[in-house]
Amino acid sequence: MDYKKDVIYQIYPKSFQSTTGKPTGDLRGVIKHIPYLKKLGIKMVWFNPFFTSPQKDNGYDIADFRAIDPIYGTMDDYMAMAKALRDNGIELMLDMVFNHTSTEHIWFQKALAGDKKYQDYYILRPGKPDGSLPTNWESKFGGPAWNKFGDTDLYYLCLYDKTQADLDWRNPDVRAELSDIVNFWMTKGVTGFRFDVINVIGKDEILVDAPPETESKKLYTDKPIVHTYLKELNQHSFGQDPEIVTVGEMSSTTIENCIEYTNPDNHELTMVFNFHHLKVDYENGQKWTKIPFDFSALKNILFDWQVDITAGNGWNALFWNCHDQPRALNRFGSPDKYRVESAKMLAAALHLLRGTPYIYMGEEIGMVDPDYSSLSQYDDIETLNAYKELTVSGLKETEVMDIIRTKSRDNARIPMPWDDSEFGSFSTVTPWLTNPKTKDINVKKELESGSIFKFYQQLIQLRHDLDVISDGDITPYSRDHDQVFAYIRRLGTDRLLVLNNFYEKETEIEIPKEFVDDSRILLANYDISKNDIKTSYTLKAYETLALYVSE
Ligand code: NOJ
Repeated sequence: MDYKKDVIYQIYPKSFQSTTGKPTGDLRGVIKHIPYLKKLGIKMVWFNPFFTSPQKDNGYDIADFRAIDPIYGTMDDYMAMAKALRDNGIELMLDMVFNHTSTEHIWFQKALAGDKKYQDYYILRPGKPDGSLPTNWESKFGGPAWNKFGDTDLYYLCLYDKTQADLDWRNPDVRAELSDIVNFWMTKGVTGFRFDVINVIGKDEILVDAPPETESKKLYTDKPIVHTYLKELNQHSFGQDPEIVTVGEMSSTTIENCIEYTNPDNHELTMVFNFHHLKVDYENGQKWTKIPFDFSALKNILFDWQVDITAGNGWNALFWNCHDQPRALNRFGSPDKYRVESAKMLAAALHLLRGTPYIYMGEEIGMVDPDYSSLSQYDDIETLNAYKELTVSGLKETEVMDIIRTKSRDNARIPMPWDDSEFGSFSTVTPWLTNPKTKDINVKKELESGSIFKFYQQLIQLRHDLDVISDGDITPYSRDHDQVFAYIRRLGTDRLLVLNNFYEKETEIEIPKEFVDDSRILLANYDISKNDIKTSYTLKAYETLALYVSE
């Protein structure tokens, strides 16, 4: 795949298609929908992990990096799926979770049994002389980042769940094991790798407390050594094949680091996947809160990243949705009244930027959050921990549930609705998470009478056809406008103006003369014609409009 011209589609295998009578999806289920993926026009699928795992964090707790978890099928199923995808021109990107392993991984089990070699694979430290934990670090899923290591006096570091033990990248044997895993999957037809939370792998030898009022993540995020580790991994594995595409998921990173991670001269990664633009509805930077999104912050973040990454010759992943985020339609669009218009506006606003767009399954049919009413409908470990913490903090049950409903990762993880039958033809039994909106929003209906899927097809084709989208530079336009996110892309004499109204309220914007006189409408989500394009233009609710000039 050409990372500048093609689009990546993310499949959360647990929720894509069940073929076995189980409540969860499987790899054979993917084969069934290859015609659908092909029709959409995507060129690579990123799969969330389907390796052997106790599934405490839905596969991000890996017990065997080289085996398929039986809930998803067998290695033969994988091979059949990979072949079927490739035969249809679709490449595979697998998720390499290399910051940690499950505590059920054989390495951790051997370490627990006293094997010194494997104890050195993990980050084990004694408690402080006063009996407290080795450091005051917080785990990302709540609670301390340390857990007792068997019946020893040591603790192991676990930045996520206590069943996800952090690996010690300082140990060259660990690094060699991990490049071997990448090489193993390269022999199995994989041409894309996503590296989970890869910028937190560089822990120091001596770990210290975070000073009061500071977040512990600063002490282990984006350490300079991460660049060294990535260069080494590149050299020992994927870098040997120039066709391979890599993406590093970056937790709380910086533009400078992302340029360094992705500038081709550095031989680290193809692109980065970062979340700053999705924290604009966090009150005081805290995820488990509920406030309206800050439009000006959203614009500033998107623009700063676009402009600076371009200047530094880096490359960014472009996404609104993934398996860790509530649906963007609920956050930045209108999930009910203007669902179709706002789904298209969000899509255009993102796909016409510089970077590689990712579509998270269901986005192309305008899926929305399920709005569960009871905690028992949720499954996600982070959500369940948050519920406990919010309750302890003194919030009322209704307030807690309101926040959970807005922020839970399960919002994105509900099953794909293939039609309007009870389980949307996802499964024959009640699925592991229910999708209460199947009747109204499903693939069959969308393909028969909807227009969002077609709009995504159009965007994918446009990126493929127009170099100004894949290669052009970018200038923010009308940056201070309080409703419109607008930009101009330029390449040689080609120019593209993209206007997006992020609100229901109509709003005026001035269209530069060159785009009034000489342009053609490249894309719109309302029925408009060239005669409507005047210097002063009124954008309707969630309107998107792309005007193109080519000489
Ligand atoms: C990021 C993944 O996207 C998320 O789902 C997971 O829980 C954490 N990394 C830990 O692996």
